[in-house]
Amino acid sequence: MIFRHATIEKNVILMLVLTLITVSIGGIVQIIPLFTIESTIERVEGMRPYTPLEQMGRNIYTREGCYLCHSQQIRPFKDEVERYGHYSLAAESMYDHPFQWGSKRTGPDLARVGGRYSNDWHVAHLVSPRAVVPESVMPAYPFLAERPLKYDDVADHLKALRMTGVPYSNEMIAKARADLEAQVNPDADPTDLLKRYPKAVVGKFNGESPQVTELDALIAYLQMLGTLVPISNIPPERLRQ
Ligand code: HEC
Repeated sequence: MIFRHATIEKNVILMLVLTLITVSIGGIVQIIPLFTIESTIERVEGMRPYTPLEQMGRNIYTREGCYLCHSQQIRPFKDEVERYGHYSLAAESMYDHPFQWGSKRTGPDLARVGGRYSNDWHVAHLVSPRAVVPESVMPAYPFLAERPLKYDDVADHLKALRMTGVPYSNEMIAKARADLEAQVNPDADPTDLLKRYPKAVVGKFNGESPQVTELDALIAYLQMLGTLVPISNIPPERLRQ
């Protein structure tokens, strides 16, 4: 046996071929089972695709590069769980394209910021962070409060996301515009919207402008973060209103 092994060791090509075969077997054993299961993410109750307004807000979050300072992934460490709440579940970012986990925290993690502050707090904070948190180093985004939200193409955004695997139905796509407008109008009847998107927070988020502004969409998105899956583990001392 040892004698035969010497043949392999002396023949580079043979060694290479046999190495490749050995490595491939290892690879196949690990990879093939993944093709036979539908999803590698465990589904959890409550997770749903984002509403058209939340999705447009998410686009603004990405456009403005909020992820450069904020992560959206609470790791399962004691200090993080005590500060931000229950650690993030894989399913909670299953409809994120692109994901916003982030790699840097100049500011706090935002994975469970939804419902922690009022809409007015968010308006004041985004327009002028130092007005509410004097020591803040976050940039101000006052222009978001004035820029009308462009949402003529909202249905196309949902269609594109469907191609990546987000389960938007034909009805959700057809009603995208109406759903967006219903979510930002407290006087409209939200029954249809809530049937399609349970737990959607309805409101005129940016009360300072009668138009639908980019800030409305961004705050709708922030107020949803971490609220879909029922985990009520946010420590009370984090509830600063
Ligand atoms: C240069 C880094 C930086 C950028 C870019 C940035 N932030 Fe912040 N953010 C911070 C810091 C620092 C804080 C903590 C102080 C404060 O509350 O203002 C913070 C706090 C926050 C909070 C409050 C979180 C909490 O739990 O108290 C929210 C919400 C927030 N930012 C949203 C945003 C959004 C939305 C954007 C993009 C439009 C953004 N931030 C961009 C640095 C940043």
